[in-house]
Amino acid sequence: MASLVSSSSSIISRLTLLRKPSLHYSIKTLQKFQGHRKLSKLILPFLRASTNYVPFSSCPKAQTANSFGQDEELVVLGIETSCDDTAAAVVRSSGEILSQVVSSQAELLVRYGGVAPKMAEEAHSLVIDQVVQEALDKANVTEEDLSAVAVTIGPGLSLCLRVGVRKARKLAGAYALPIVGVHHMEAHALVARLVEKQLQFPFMALLVSGGHNLLILARDLGHYIQLGTTIDDAIGEAYDKTAKWLGLDMRKSGGPAVEELAREGDENSIGFKVPMKQHKDCNFSYAGLKTQVRLAIESKNIDASIPIASAGSEDRRARADIAASFQRVAVLHLEDKCERSIEWALKIEPCIKYLVVSGGVASNQYVRSRLNKIVEKKGLQLVCPPPSLCTDNGVMIAWTGIEHFRMGRYDPPPAACEPEDALLDLRPRWPLGEEYAEGKREARSLKTARLHPSLTSLIQASIQQQP
Ligand code: KG4
Ligand code: ZN
Repeated sequence: MASLVSSSSSIISRLTLLRKPSLHYSIKTLQKFQGHRKLSKLILPFLRASTNYVPFSSCPKAQTANSFGQDEELVVLGIETSCDDTAAAVVRSSGEILSQVVSSQAELLVRYGGVAPKMAEEAHSLVIDQVVQEALDKANVTEEDLSAVAVTIGPGLSLCLRVGVRKARKLAGAYALPIVGVHHMEAHALVARLVEKQLQFPFMALLVSGGHNLLILARDLGHYIQLGTTIDDAIGEAYDKTAKWLGLDMRKSGGPAVEELAREGDENSIGFKVPMKQHKDCNFSYAGLKTQVRLAIESKNIDASIPIASAGSEDRRARADIAASFQRVAVLHLEDKCERSIEWALKIEPCIKYLVVSGGVASNQYVRSRLNKIVEKKGLQLVCPPPSLCTDNGVMIAWTGIEHFRMGRYDPPPAACEPEDALLDLRPRWPLGEEYAEGKREARSLKTARLHPSLTSLIQASIQQQP
């Protein structure tokens, strides 16, 4: 939640606001919104509904928990600036996507060979107003038609998060809109519920992006168990570096370039070692595979300064073989850990039916088809959002905002003229769930430095504090 942290007594923190609204808070909130007839009409049902909220899903109850259509009037703007894409979208609570706009920083990626935070911040600042305006225009709505603004507050680069959060608070302040702070990785998982209406809690999710490799058990909204994470690099980072070292065109980011080239190569030509085979846990490691790829590239004298488009046929073939062999092993690692995590998850929640695969890397066709085989073998169903909803986007933020808003989890509108230098509640390192105890015992040298308690622990604590 993009809360303003000030030295005054009026500190708004997500910890307090995440609590189910008390009657007092509900009345106060309504009084605040009194001048805004439409808004109070919209919010009243949610405040009422939220007082009946039962936090933990049991399997039978979970099947009725997600009732679409009860609140068709909600229209939420989602803003995402956690990394290198500036994205905004307008989504209805019925699941209808009214607009989706993404401005990518492809040129910067090519120039710097990765995301440079200061440059990325500047690029976000340059386009944020335009991206949000375009999302509203394409959706054919004005700010007055919105029910709330949702924005990513973490994890991500704080310089970049700040741009989105500022914009969201400015807009929410000017139009007296409630604001929902969104966890980026939760949004990657929950967007699957927009796509697949049958997808009820509990379900499993593998979230694979540039900065994260997460295996989670989603027990309920805001209640996640982390079955596995990466102990060093995420798979997206390994794709990006492989692309860079192979001299590929990075304008669509490294992943798609490696996927495309891999189609020409022999995936068995190089015997890269599958990471962490001996670890009986669900954690990931891609740093070692990156090193193996770099050494293979060096041994074949591939010159990354010669773009693939200018490479001779033998050179191209060598690069394609490395791309294909890398991809095979990178995905085998996902398959191994997914298989084990399904066994773990079924022990905790035997009625799980779905595994969601989302995040940028999930837009890869090879990843999707390989994981589909594993999931089918285990008797589950795979849910993969379409590629445009797997890579960073505003729709997933708007949708996650809707899900939390329906439960009464939001901040009231910020002050209309917040100072530019207001200290914002940004959460660059923000775990999604609590580690599964069994996984913790078996995991080795996991980096656990955290700036914030996990989303799950915050929500559980707020629920327990309710009378
Ligand atoms: O979720 P995302 O858009 O941003 C982050 O939250 O990081 O994921 C971006 C990552 C990048 O590493 C990108 O190379 C990778 O997703 N990616 C892919 C593909 N499309 C995007 N990796 C493999 N194959 C793809 N088709
Ligand atoms: Zn992402």
